[in-house]
Amino acid sequence: MNATSATRMNRRLPWTTALALLATAAGQAGESPGLGEPLAPDEVAALDFTVLPDGRGLPAGEGSVGEGARLYAARCLACHGEEGRGGINDELAGGAGSLAGPAPVKTVGSYWPSATTVFDYLRRAMPYEAPGSLTADDYYALTAYLLYLNGIVDADARLDARSLPAVRMPNRDNFDHGWPPDAAEGG
Ligand code: HEC
Repeated sequence: MNATSATRMNRRLPWTTALALLATAAGQAGESPGLGEPLAPDEVAALDFTVLPDGRGLPAGEGSVGEGARLYAARCLACHGEEGRGGINDELAGGAGSLAGPAPVKTVGSYWPSATTVFDYLRRAMPYEAPGSLTADDYYALTAYLLYLNGIVDADARLDARSLPAVRMPNRDNFDHGWPPDAAEGG
C-alpha cells in the first residue's frame, strides 16, 4: 500500500481497525515494532547515574573545599556570584532559617534535604552550558565547596562516597523520606 492509499484508509476506517492494521504491519517486520535499537551496555551505563539520598550510586573519587573553590571561580561564579550569592542565577548559599518566614530563601543549604542530591544535581545539570562535563573528583569538590559556603562542612572537608552521605542537611527533617523505603535513614 502506498502512502496515499494509507491516508485514505485511515480516514475511512475506525481507529481500532487502523491500529490493528499497524500492529500487523509491525509484526510482519519482525519481533518488535521497529521503533528503536537496543542500547549497548556502556550506553545504558552512561544514562544510569542517579545518586539516591543514602549515597547509592555515588562514584569513586573525592574532592576538597579548596579544590571546589578554585573550580567554582572558573566555572560557576559568572552565573551564581561570589560565594554563591548575588549572581544572575539561583542563590546557592544563605537563607538559613528563612523558610518559615515571610520571605523564604531556598538554597542548597536552607532547603535541600540530602547532601548527596547536591552531587547528583551538579553532575546532571551543571555547569549549565556543559552538564556532566567535569570529573567525579570535580563534582565532589564543588559539592564540598557549596556545603562549606552554607556552613554545613568545615573549610578542610574532603568528601567522597563514604563521607558525603554522612553529611546531615539542616532542613532534612522537614521532608518525608518515605521513598525508597530502605533509604529512610539515608542522607
Ligand atoms: C551559564 C550560567 C550558569 C553556570 C556557568 C552555572 N550555573 Fe548553576 N544554574 C544556572 C541556572 C540557570 C540554574 C537554574 C536551573 C533550573 O532551575 O533549571 C542553575 C541552578 C543551579 C543549582 C540549583 C540551585 C537550586 O537551589 O535549585 C546549583 C546547585 C547550581 N546551579 C550550581 C552550579 C555550579 C556548582 C556551577 C559550576 C560548576 C554552576 N552552577 C554553573 C546557571 C548556571
